[in-house]
Amino acid sequence: MKRKLLILALLLATSFSAIADKGMWLPSLISSRVKDMKSKGFKLSAEDIYSINKASLKDAVVLFDGGCTGEIVSEKGLLLTNHHCGYDAIQALSTVEHDYLTNGFWAMSHAEELYCPGLKVHILVRMEEVTDRLAAGETKQDIIRKAEAEGVGFRASVESMYYGNIAYLFIYREFSDVRLVGTPPSAIGKFGADNDNWIWPRHTGDFSVFRIYANADNEPAAYSAENRPYTPARHFEISVDGVKEGDFTMIYGFPGNTQEYITSDAVKYVAECSDPTKIALRTQRLDIIGAAQATSPKIRLQYAAKHANIANAWKKWQGEVLGINRLGTYDKKVAYEEAFRRANPDKAYILDSLEAAYDRNIEGYFNYELYNETLRGIELQQVVRIAANSKLTDEQKQAAVENFYKDFVMDVDRQLAVAMLKEYCDKATFISDELKSLVEKHGSAEGYAEWLYDSTTLGSVESFSVEGALNDPMAEFVAALAPIQERVAAYTYRNLSNIPDIERWYRPYVKALMEWDKRRAFFPDANLTLRVAYGKVAGYEYADGEYHLPQTTIEGIMQKDNPEIYDYNIPQSLRDVYARKDYGRWGVNMYGKYTVPVCFIATNHTTGGNSGSPVLNGKGELIGINFDRTWLSTMSDIEFDETLCRNIICDIRYVLFVIEKVGGAGWLIDEMGI
Ligand code: ARG
Ligand code: GLU
Repeated sequence: MKRKLLILALLLATSFSAIADKGMWLPSLISSRVKDMKSKGFKLSAEDIYSINKASLKDAVVLFDGGCTGEIVSEKGLLLTNHHCGYDAIQALSTVEHDYLTNGFWAMSHAEELYCPGLKVHILVRMEEVTDRLAAGETKQDIIRKAEAEGVGFRASVESMYYGNIAYLFIYREFSDVRLVGTPPSAIGKFGADNDNWIWPRHTGDFSVFRIYANADNEPAAYSAENRPYTPARHFEISVDGVKEGDFTMIYGFPGNTQEYITSDAVKYVAECSDPTKIALRTQRLDIIGAAQATSPKIRLQYAAKHANIANAWKKWQGEVLGINRLGTYDKKVAYEEAFRRANPDKAYILDSLEAAYDRNIEGYFNYELYNETLRGIELQQVVRIAANSKLTDEQKQAAVENFYKDFVMDVDRQLAVAMLKEYCDKATFISDELKSLVEKHGSAEGYAEWLYDSTTLGSVESFSVEGALNDPMAEFVAALAPIQERVAAYTYRNLSNIPDIERWYRPYVKALMEWDKRRAFFPDANLTLRVAYGKVAGYEYADGEYHLPQTTIEGIMQKDNPEIYDYNIPQSLRDVYARKDYGRWGVNMYGKYTVPVCFIATNHTTGGNSGSPVLNGKGELIGINFDRTWLSTMSDIEFDETLCRNIICDIRYVLFVIEKVGGAGWLIDEMGI
C-alpha cells in the first residue's frame, strides 16, 4: 500500500510538471501552447512567432557558427550573441599588436568591421513535416536536394523527432560573410571565467556583436568588399524597461541535446557510471594542466582554451549528478515505468526490449566514452595523423603542424598520456592486441607511455618531417589505436539512447507514452533545431535557508573585482564609470540602490546551443541574451524541475551599458533604435 501511495504521489508530481514551464517547442506547432503562454503573460500570437506568410520573430533568430544562437537587432543585420560563442572568431582576428580578446574591439563604422573567415550563420526559411514523404519512399537525400535547389544559399536538413516517430525538413539560408562589429574585453565578456561558470549569482557580460552581409540582391554571398549589410525580414525590438520577479520570459533558439524520455536504466548509466567516470578522468587532466599553467604565464595562455573546454562539461556533469540525486530522478523513472507496465500490459514488452538493448550496448558505449576522454585527448598523436593525411599537401602539413606546436607543451602531454593510458587500460574492455603487446613489452601502461615520450622524435616543430613522423614510435601507437577506434565507431551517437539498436525501441515506447499519458506535455527532445521555451523571471532556493535573488547588479562586479586575479581583473574604464556613478540612461534603482542591472535568471527550459539566444518579454521584445544555466540545474537535460532549474541571462541593459560606456560605440545603440 505504501508503495502504491508512493507511486501515486510520484505520478502526481510528474503530471504537475506537465503544466509547468518545461518543454522546448517547435515554433511551427506553437499554437498548441499559446493558451498557456497567454495565461502567463504572452501578448502576441502564434503567427508572430512563426509564419511562412509574413515576417515573424523566427526571421530574426540565427544559428550561429553551428552550435550557438544569435539574434538580429537592426534592419542592417546587426547581430548579438555570446562572447563565448564569438570567441573563436575573435581569437582568430587577434594578434599580439591587436589583442581583441584582452582589450576588446569596437568598429566605429561599417568600414572598420572585420570579416571572420569560416564563420557562418543560418536563418530558418521554413520547416515542414516530411514523415509521409519518407514513408512514401523518398530518401532524406532527395528531400534535401530538392529543398536546397529552391533558393540561393539554401541549406537543408531532415531531423527526426521523438526517436524517429516523425521527421521534419528544415530549410535555412546560409550566410558566410559575417563580420565582427564589437566585443568587450575578456575581463567583461568572460568575467569570472571557469570559476563562475555554471554558477549563480553571476556577473558576466557574455556578449559580442557581429553583422551579416549580403550581396546587392540581399542574398547570401561569399565575402566581398561589395557586399552590404543584410536587410532582415524582421529584427528584434529591444526593451529597456527591465524585468522583475514573476515576469513572463520566452527564449527562441537552437538547443542541442536533451533526453527527456529515457528510461531508468539510462538515467542510472548517466548518474552512476558515465558522469562519475568522466568527471574523475577530467579532474586528473585539469590537475595536470592546471599545475603546469601555474608554473608559467606562457603555458597558462597556451592551455587556456583547452582548460576551459575540459572544465565546462566537467563542471556541468557534477551539477547534473547532484541535480539528478536531489530530484530522485531514477526512482521517479522506475515508478513511472511500473505504472506504464500496469496500465499497458500488452506493451510491457517494449520496456523489456529496451532493458535488453541497454544490456547489449552499455559496454560498447562506455568504451566509446572512455576512449574519447582518455586516448583521444593525447595530443601528440595529432602530428602523426597530420603527416598521414593524404588530403593535405606537404606545405599544408607543415602549416598544420606549426599551428599544433604553438599551443603544445611536451611535458604536459607526457603526463596526460601516462595518466590516460593507464586509466584506459584499467577500465576499458576494448583493447587491441597491438596495444596489449606494447603495454606488455614495457611492463605496464605507464611504462609504455614513458618510453613512448622518451623515444619519440616529435618533441618540437623543428624536428618534424613527414617521413620521420610516419616512422616514429608515435606512429606505432596511433596504429595500435586504430582497431579500438574502429570498434568504438559503432557507438558514436549523440547519446547512449540514440544507438540505433536502442533507439528503435524508443520509437514505440514514446509513441505508447503519448497515447497513455494524456496529462504529460510531450515536446521533442532538443536536436539543434529551432525551439521556443517560456517561463518567468524567478529566484530559487539554492539550499536549505539559502534563497538566491533573480537579479545581479554592478555592485557584485565591484565586489569581485580583483587586479590580482586574472578572471576578476575588470578594465579600468569600468572602475571609473562605477566611481563616477556615470550610468547615464542605464542607471536604475534596484534593491534600494542606484545601480546597473547585470544578469538575471528565469525558468526557461534551455540547454547547450541556447547560448546567445534572445530572451524576450511578453511582447516579443529583447530583454536579454541567454548564456548559461545554474549549478544543479543542468540535469534539466534529463528532468526539468521548475523549482530548481534556471537559465542565466545577460540583461540587455548591461549589454547596452557596456557598448556605450566602456566601448564608446554609441552609434550601435542608435542603430538599434533606442
Ligand atoms: N557554461 C556555458 C556553456 O556551456 C559557458 C561556457 C563558456 N565558458 C567557459 N568557462 N568555458 O556553454
Ligand atoms: N553555455 C551553454 C551553451 O554554449 C548554454 C548553457 C546550457 O547548457 O544551458 O550553449
